[in-house]
Amino acid sequence: MAKKRILSGMRPTGNLHLGNLHGALKNWIELQNSGDYECFYFIADWHALTSEYNNTDMIREYILNMSIDWLSVGLDQEKSTLFIQSRIKEHAELFVILSMITPLPWLERNPTYKEMKEELSGKDLSTFGFLGYPVLQAADIIMYKAYGVPVGVDQLPHVELTREIARRFNFLYREIFPIPVPLLAEVPKLLGIDGRKMSKSYNNAIYISDRGDELRAKIEAMFTDPQRMRKKDPGRPELCNVFTFHQIYSPAEFVGEVSAECKRAGIGCTDCKRRLADRIIEGLRPIHERQDYFRKHIDEVKGIIEDGNVRAAGEAHVTMEEVRAAIKI
Ligand code: TRP
Ligand code: SF4
Repeated sequence: MAKKRILSGMRPTGNLHLGNLHGALKNWIELQNSGDYECFYFIADWHALTSEYNNTDMIREYILNMSIDWLSVGLDQEKSTLFIQSRIKEHAELFVILSMITPLPWLERNPTYKEMKEELSGKDLSTFGFLGYPVLQAADIIMYKAYGVPVGVDQLPHVELTREIARRFNFLYREIFPIPVPLLAEVPKLLGIDGRKMSKSYNNAIYISDRGDELRAKIEAMFTDPQRMRKKDPGRPELCNVFTFHQIYSPAEFVGEVSAECKRAGIGCTDCKRRLADRIIEGLRPIHERQDYFRKHIDEVKGIIEDGNVRAAGEAHVTMEEVRAAIKI
């Protein structure tokens, strides 16, 4: 029996940070390595334009860095198809077609649209492309007849819209598309160094490429339990972002020890952070080694993505033949 297909994408709006690694990529890698799925992962550069249309100087660099980082953290071109959205022009064709059958109110009431517009109020997002964001995303997903879409909760409305759009296409023309399901993973709640959501726009991110003293300085600056002002105050590890990181990067015995010692004011935050920094540096070492390798072998990286583009294009070509036939164009 054919393996079920998984598809997901990421916007190249900055370099990858530990929030991206633990919030999304680890899950993608697990799905890939389970061997149960055929995985398609792509860099959503057209989607990056929806909010960054006036800020494109860095986009090529971000795409290349994202390719390097994906390979460095363990996405594997032998197991997954890794590609770039804008290289598969069929996404644009399917987007146009889907835009014809998507009622405007479905887009206007999309909660992610409303939220992002408010959040990014400094930008003019009253564009056609920004409103149509989920239609392009629907095209990305159904192009590959994906069964499952691994995403974070913020993306659930987009997958829901994709389901509605796919159903509408099937109803209007012919049953071509499976209705995809969102795949939500249990992910740790890692915050940025200032205690807010980790994001490049907040300037609080620890990047996958951060190393050495720079990495140590960021960890040293991390917010801890706000009630623990002095070392003699007992702390609440469950409310401390440093502790959340320990749970990922430190061995279980040490996590238990940190928790107990923090609660009885036996360990100070400076010490706790220093030990975390050691573990993170250790944990990222294999990733950094691969990053060094791929940075020296850019042509190899480009070749891998080019192969992925070719594979994806083959699939997209087949789907679009079916779509054109169904709509008699
Ligand atoms: N909107 C997604 C995000 O910001 C990125 C994305 C674009 C995507 N197309 C997709 C995710 C298709 C899953 C499937 O994270
Ligand atoms: Fe957080 Fe560690 Fe300080 Fe406890 S000792 S508050 S876990 S940094």
